[in-house]
Amino acid sequence: MNKFAAPKGVSEYFPDRSKYFEFVRETLIDSARRSGYQLIELPVFEDTELFARGVGESTDVVSKEMYTFEDRGGRSITLRPEGTAGVMRSVIEHNLDRGQLPVKVWYSGQFFRAERPQLGRYRQFYQVGIEAIGLQDPEIDAEVISVADRAFKKLGLKNYSLEITSLGDAPTRERYTKDLRTYIATLDLDEATTQRANLNPLRLFDDKRDEVRALMAGAPVLMDYLTQESASHFQKVQECLNDFSIDYSINKRMVRGLDYYTGTAFEFVHNGLGSQSGIGGGGRYDGLMAQLGGSDLSGIGFGLGVDRILLACEAEGVGIPQDFALQLFIVPIGESAKRRAVVLAQELRVAGFSTDLAYGDRGLKGAMKAADKSGSRFALVLGENEIASGSAELKNMQTGVSSSVTLRTLQEDLRKLL
Ligand code: HAM
Repeated sequence: MNKFAAPKGVSEYFPDRSKYFEFVRETLIDSARRSGYQLIELPVFEDTELFARGVGESTDVVSKEMYTFEDRGGRSITLRPEGTAGVMRSVIEHNLDRGQLPVKVWYSGQFFRAERPQLGRYRQFYQVGIEAIGLQDPEIDAEVISVADRAFKKLGLKNYSLEITSLGDAPTRERYTKDLRTYIATLDLDEATTQRANLNPLRLFDDKRDEVRALMAGAPVLMDYLTQESASHFQKVQECLNDFSIDYSINKRMVRGLDYYTGTAFEFVHNGLGSQSGIGGGGRYDGLMAQLGGSDLSGIGFGLGVDRILLACEAEGVGIPQDFALQLFIVPIGESAKRRAVVLAQELRVAGFSTDLAYGDRGLKGAMKAADKSGSRFALVLGENEIASGSAELKNMQTGVSSSVTLRTLQEDLRKLL
């Protein structure tokens, strides 16, 4: 029989690399928790209409990349290509917008886009995201950006940069799109491109074709159209980032791939990843909630690409901190030692130490190899002699140095060493 293989273009993580993935994901989530964001756990599929309306028909994500199917009840369902629309749906449905504001939530999980797969670009990928809903203050924009930046610094990443822009408010957009449409009308474009421009003229900025890029190089720039209010908001965001000592550059031509953005928008770019360099991005989406049938609350958030951040960590040689490793691996020699080791491991686990042991009869050499492979920080060899004397050798697996410990006080000794 043929062996099964995973569907094309999905990312999977299994030992030993899964530990690295877990470490990256947990570090991102930890940063969100430290700023007061709470978990929101959402379905991976939603009504197709939610994304069509929320993300925008003119976007590649909606027009080309959605996994859409009809379920058994004849409903059109789509695997979530991003997280913000689902969060809005849930906040509106459960009336969170009528409670304490801002609503601050984080999420983590799989997202789906039918893109052409390559390293760092997958059809099923992972994001950690946050959303802060119901507050217009520029300080919250800086807070959202700082959650991502702190996580990257905590991971030990250095080779990344932050680009920010402002996409303006509704009056900015109105004035700007009028001029942009006038400019686009002078260009010689094919039918499909013209249609895309009619839906949303900003979309022409992310056209990858050289000839379209060349034509758009002369287009008016949105940031030159910012209203006084938008400009002052953006100025305050920058001041706040300066106060946080977060480096950034202003990218006047940034376009985000989703239609809901207004005001502050940002992208984190890593320069060791080749073409899939975007490790995270986000921004304000002040009209989205009203557009989806809720109250007219503003919002801002980001999505971080866990797969790409993992690749970035590997590219920079970022190590996993020790507290992520197994703490103790017990190597029993002989039958009665094995029985003792099983119970000892259980006692240690109850006391809060992560502990594993060598099962099966592998002999000392094989069992020490297993200890090595486990990535454990310490190994304890337990034979008949050790049990009889009540003391054993505890080996630091990193330095190779062993010290003698009394089994009775093992927990205290371990606590001191870890
Ligand atoms: P996005 O820029 O479309 O934004 O995606 C965020 C991040 O997800 C990207 O920067 C990238 O790291 C990762 N990503 C996207 N597509 C793929 C893929 N095919 N393979 C691997 N990684 C990928 C959003 O999704 C918005 N919902 C973010 C947001 C939240 N804005 C406001 N709130």
